[in-house]
Amino acid sequence: MDSFRWQDFERAHVWHPYASMLAPSKVYAVARAEGVRLILKDGRELIDGMASWWCAIHGYNVPELNAAAAAQMQRMSHVMFGGLTHEPAARLAERLLGLAPDAMQHVFLADSGSVSVEVAIKMALQYWLAQGRKGKNRLLTIRHGYHGDTFGAMGVCDPDTGMHHLFSGMLTEHLFVDAPTARSDAEWQDSQITEFKEKIEAHRGELAAVILEPIVQGAGGMRMYAPEFLRRVRALCDEHDVLLILDEIATGFGRTGRMFACEHAGITPDIMCVGKALTGGYMTLAAVLTTPEVVRGVHADANGQGSVLMHGPTFMANPLACAVALASIDLLLASPWQQRVSAIEEQLARELESCRGLAGVADVRVLGAIGVVEMHQPVDMARIQPMFVERGVWLRPFGKLIYTMPPFIIDSNDLSHISNVIYDVLSDVSTAIAG
Ligand SMILES: Cc1ncc(COP(=O)(O)O)c(C=O)c1O
Repeated sequence: MDSFRWQDFERAHVWHPYASMLAPSKVYAVARAEGVRLILKDGRELIDGMASWWCAIHGYNVPELNAAAAAQMQRMSHVMFGGLTHEPAARLAERLLGLAPDAMQHVFLADSGSVSVEVAIKMALQYWLAQGRKGKNRLLTIRHGYHGDTFGAMGVCDPDTGMHHLFSGMLTEHLFVDAPTARSDAEWQDSQITEFKEKIEAHRGELAAVILEPIVQGAGGMRMYAPEFLRRVRALCDEHDVLLILDEIATGFGRTGRMFACEHAGITPDIMCVGKALTGGYMTLAAVLTTPEVVRGVHADANGQGSVLMHGPTFMANPLACAVALASIDLLLASPWQQRVSAIEEQLARELESCRGLAGVADVRVLGAIGVVEMHQPVDMARIQPMFVERGVWLRPFGKLIYTMPPFIIDSNDLSHISNVIYDVLSDVSTAIAG
């Protein structure tokens, strides 16, 4: 029998996200995953309320995705994309462009969400550089954003909750305005856009692009905002000659109730990033979509030479990931995903509402398959996480937020279990607060 104590070894040698290697926090060993359940090594089963950081929209061990991976593996798992090409990349690009807003006509296949944000920023910078407008090299965004952990992406994450303090002096200094507070068009007032309007007018000469997560800001605070804000931003970008990058990495592929969240506002970005659910959570892949206008701009070298986009990761357009992504999109389109997401939305809105009355709860909000309970104070992760696990649910709160973004295939009983467990755990915690 294999005597390797892998968990002990792992604990001593393998880093986890946002974690200390010297004082590692508790992790749970997963033996396998099936449907909406994570099966732990010790045999316990957890209903997954996180969809593995929001990407496993079809759940786990999905026959169609397994088959796509197995079939592609027989042909080739990977070949370089420099000087070579393959059918999975072409088919995936065709499917993506068919789903995205019409103006999107070109695709860059990147290897993770953060890298796609780097590529999107680089595309915007090269767009202006190629036209001899070197001074247009900054970005404008709203607070509470999250766009990834690489350096370019960190520079546009929220300046307070992001890593600006840790890396001060090392990140590009971009421009930030307050995020809108109106959640729906019904609550909209023009004052919501005033600061943004003033900033873009004042800095138009140095702005390459605006970057935003459309409608839902994810890891920067799980905030939801009015589509009207996006419509105004689009109009102001056009007026002031600034490109608009929409980061749909968390929102894309149905999570907010529309295929892409920009559809809530009926607008089209100049550059769009997708990732996470792109492969149904099977493996890492992201894409940057853009318009013929941006492509012409990037290649419009001022000297008439024609410039190239300066990016090319080793695993660009990995065939295995492309084949699984294609199967994942086809599976999504063949499923009643809109009904599923709206049923999840309706149920979460109804069931999480009861949390509003608990001590310590500041807000409850739901959009699509996203349910959020915000506390007044940050939650004690080390204490609260085992409480969820003991009750058979996998959730990973952060900051003041307890939230769920389950796989779309979750049934109403399992979803109720997640809602009830959130309520029970918060009741226990708030009894402790009240006591
Ligand atoms: C909106 C958004 N952009 C970018 C990223 C970064 O993606 P990745 O973790 O694949 O690098 C994330 C990840 O949470 C995200 O939510």
